[in-house]
Amino acid sequence: MKRIAVLTSGGDSPGMNAAIRSTVRAATFNDVECIGVMRGYEGLIDGEYVPMDRSSVGGIIHKGGTILKTARSERFKTEEGRAAALAKMKEAGIEGLVVIGGDGSFHGAKLLDAAGMPTIGVPGTIDTDIAGTDTTIGFDTAVNTALDAVMKLRDTASSHDRLFIVEVMGRNAGFLALEVAVATGAEYVIVPELPVSIGKLCEMLREAHARKKNHIIIILAEGVMTANEMKDRLQDTGGYEARVTVLGYIQRGGGPTSYDTILASRMGAYATESLLIGKRGVMVGSVSGRMVLSDLERSWTERKSLNPELLDLMGKLN
Ligand code: F6P
Repeated sequence: MKRIAVLTSGGDSPGMNAAIRSTVRAATFNDVECIGVMRGYEGLIDGEYVPMDRSSVGGIIHKGGTILKTARSERFKTEEGRAAALAKMKEAGIEGLVVIGGDGSFHGAKLLDAAGMPTIGVPGTIDTDIAGTDTTIGFDTAVNTALDAVMKLRDTASSHDRLFIVEVMGRNAGFLALEVAVATGAEYVIVPELPVSIGKLCEMLREAHARKKNHIIIILAEGVMTANEMKDRLQDTGGYEARVTVLGYIQRGGGPTSYDTILASRMGAYATESLLIGKRGVMVGSVSGRMVLSDLERSWTERKSLNPELLDLMGKLN
């Protein structure tokens, strides 16, 4: 291969820039040219291609967001959209592609690979809901961002003896909520993988009050219900008055932690070098600290499980 391309797709996550940098620099190191594709699959279809070199990725390693911008492309879900992208890539002499994104982006990557363009995925999402890797680029940063916010809420919750519901992102998965709950010492975590009825939650709150626990933080995964809905239901069912904080997109912003920066640097380089030795249709993962490859399909056919030890801890430490 003489020319490859890199794009970021789906929701941005802290560390994507470090992954772009390492993809480009690993390519350059191996005497391969790397093209940056703007706005994910949208730019792939429209031919928004930017030549990159070592210096064009200088000074971005610790920046949040993605310098290549990102998008969720409806056009790429169609056969015509993918055919147009493939034609544009061939016209530009691109022989391989690195896709940095989540499972939705990997769906597209697999189809592109099957259509003849060697493609490799790098998992970048704060949700970390991707099988084939222990963690994803951006997750650690999002946990730390939420930790900072929840610790501030804890101060006011304890001063007023209040009940707080903090809604965190994660789409249909509870990974982010669970780690935020353990890291902040929250009283309860409510995740889609382990539904708790409002009646049961009221019972748990009654028990907590009985043992003089007057300030309570519930970490709620967005995939269960909204924090406002939970607030209303707690009021209606148990007469509890809760305050609500939705952390929202703050969790996707900011520069990456050192953990995410190193993870992104390793994954980007590993993806590029794997592509150059003929690997394709696969995703880079970090399993027990080692870089591995697994079929892209796993990212949407397999459901990763929450760490049972952390769930157990939540039950013991609150
Ligand atoms: O997948 C990352 C994520 O931030 C999810 O946690 C969240 O549900 C979703 O993206 C929000 O998507 P959008 O940026 O399209 O609003």
